[in-house]
Amino acid sequence: VDTGYELWMNYKPLPESGLKQSAIRYGSHISLPGSRYDEVIRKELERALKALLTVTPIFVQDNAVGIQMSFCKDKGLGEEGYIIRSGKKRITLQAYSDAGFLYGTFHLIRLIQCGYPLEQLNIKEIPALEFRMINHWVGLGGTVERGYAGKGLWAWDDLPKKIEPRYTDYARAEASIGINAVILNNVNADPRILGHDYLEKVAALADIFRKYHIKVYLAPNFAAPVKPSTTKDVGKQWGGVGIGHLDTADPLNPEVQKWWMDKVNEIYSLIPDFGGFLVKANSEGMAGPQDYHRSHVDGANMLARALKPHGGIVLWRTFVYNPEIDKDRMKRSYKEFQPLDGQFDENVVLQTKNGTLDFQPSEPAQPLFGAMRHTPLFPELQITQEYLGRSVSLVYLLPMWRKTFLDFDTYCNGKGSTVSNIIAGKTFPSRMLGMAGVGNIGRSRNWTAHHFAQANWYAFGRLAWNPEESTESITSDWIKSTWNCDEATLEVIRQMMMPTWESFVCAHAPYSLGFTVKREDHYTAGFEQRANKEWHVSKESIGTDRTTKGTNYVSQYFKYNKDIFNSLSQCPELYLLCFHNVPWSHKMKSGKSLREEFKSNLKRGIEQVDVNIGLWKSIRNKIDPVRYEEVLESLYKEQRDTKVFYQAALNFFSQYW
Ligand code: GCU
Repeated sequence: VDTGYELWMNYKPLPESGLKQSAIRYGSHISLPGSRYDEVIRKELERALKALLTVTPIFVQDNAVGIQMSFCKDKGLGEEGYIIRSGKKRITLQAYSDAGFLYGTFHLIRLIQCGYPLEQLNIKEIPALEFRMINHWVGLGGTVERGYAGKGLWAWDDLPKKIEPRYTDYARAEASIGINAVILNNVNADPRILGHDYLEKVAALADIFRKYHIKVYLAPNFAAPVKPSTTKDVGKQWGGVGIGHLDTADPLNPEVQKWWMDKVNEIYSLIPDFGGFLVKANSEGMAGPQDYHRSHVDGANMLARALKPHGGIVLWRTFVYNPEIDKDRMKRSYKEFQPLDGQFDENVVLQTKNGTLDFQPSEPAQPLFGAMRHTPLFPELQITQEYLGRSVSLVYLLPMWRKTFLDFDTYCNGKGSTVSNIIAGKTFPSRMLGMAGVGNIGRSRNWTAHHFAQANWYAFGRLAWNPEESTESITSDWIKSTWNCDEATLEVIRQMMMPTWESFVCAHAPYSLGFTVKREDHYTAGFEQRANKEWHVSKESIGTDRTTKGTNYVSQYFKYNKDIFNSLSQCPELYLLCFHNVPWSHKMKSGKSLREEFKSNLKRGIEQVDVNIGLWKSIRNKIDPVRYEEVLESLYKEQRDTKVFYQAALNFFSQYW
């Protein structure tokens, strides 16, 4: 039975066709390249081709027919690139380095699985980004912060002795979409993750992931060098308490520096290819250099220097919003970090959330993108749906990532300075290129609880490989390889997915209003709680004035966007209430007043889920029964919760209309 465990590697017999016949011809004989990944490549091909084509491939030394893999001298392919070419008899997969074969193999499988013609392949793939990372916010107790798919995947208590087969399946899934780095623990980091016992557990996972070209990273607690607390209650954020023997974690203190050097040496003795650290410091109560009157630069560089001899890197998060910096939360991170541009060591990267506020359903891109020319900046996208309906709502995030972020033109170097160009190093040179996604997976049988949430994980990986990959191909590849369906069914599923982000925004966070959900759960309606704290509302108007006459947040953008956002008539309506305080009577592009449009838009969430239930039922016979029922159940739950949210929104806003 299909439980969703196989994800998009749901290899099922392809329908009889000419395409299948040609795939069988190619797939019957395979020669491996003699790479570090031969073993996993062989296993994956056996598994895939047996299931898809019902052939058992024969592995040969050298072949004139079939699939032939070999090293080539094209240095330009780098560590991970590959070339796939085909003629009548043979498909050749060439790479300059080992990992190219791994990724090339998964690409080839995808081509077969999704029914692309194989006769005239001429593919050259080089990942646009070198670091393609998944962040797991897994605590040592196993719970996942903002995770909605059960406990974390790593069974800490059983490691390093017991190795679950699922770890390998996890690594396969990541490698199949090009992910090459995982951060294993929550950024609200428990200091004990750096204890020797935990490092041994981490090393056991690293041993598995290495087979799939995945490096592990950890999120350390900045106060780790400090003595453990003698009192038990250290609070949620560990209260500056560590696992060391020191009284301070001051980054300029030589003993602290030595503590980190020793710790890093210990890590590398267990995990020679350890990736580095992801650090949340001086953010939401986490310890950091500012606790010792030092700067983010001091903190990041100190860790970077410990990692440097081993080739490790520091990912320093910019998610800070200290109220002393500015009254407007949206201005704080930029104000703290922009002036530090150029001061970080060369193995430091800043990791920055896509939006300015905090993973809202909709918000303008963080203006640091384009404004940091001398410091590598990795975007942090949130795959887990913290503010986007958890694993209850079907919300496909790729359209959001595209529209509000990757396609956003910052104008930092004139027109065409889109975020995707910037992060790919095309707008100005950057030493390191990468992208991180906060994962949505857990121990739930289908990994993500909602079957459609798998699509967000998949889309993230494909985007990290190539931020310019088309939405159409990512989406249809996911649908085909997950649901094994015909074209008509694919079209129905696509119709279900594509409008969901927009309708979710209309119903939950209209015109980028900002926080609208309860503080406690980030899920249920919290209008009363947030109104006139996070945003303004009255009988006359709604929204926050961030123009030059208001908080002046607009001035953090380059001139072109500053002017656009600053102008009530030119500001994209999607962001209207984030930048402007707007009279309810304001005339919208639709011709309706804001009040009227707002009100009718609030219903779009319910309308969308109603449509989706209808669409899903229309393909009942095309979907396996287990997943069919589970998705239907999710849709019904979404319908109930969306109605409750709608009612709360209506009750709240009616007082002002
Ligand atoms: C959000 C989220 C927290 C998380 C934080 C972060 O605020 O609600 O759970 O720790 O982001 O990204 O650090």
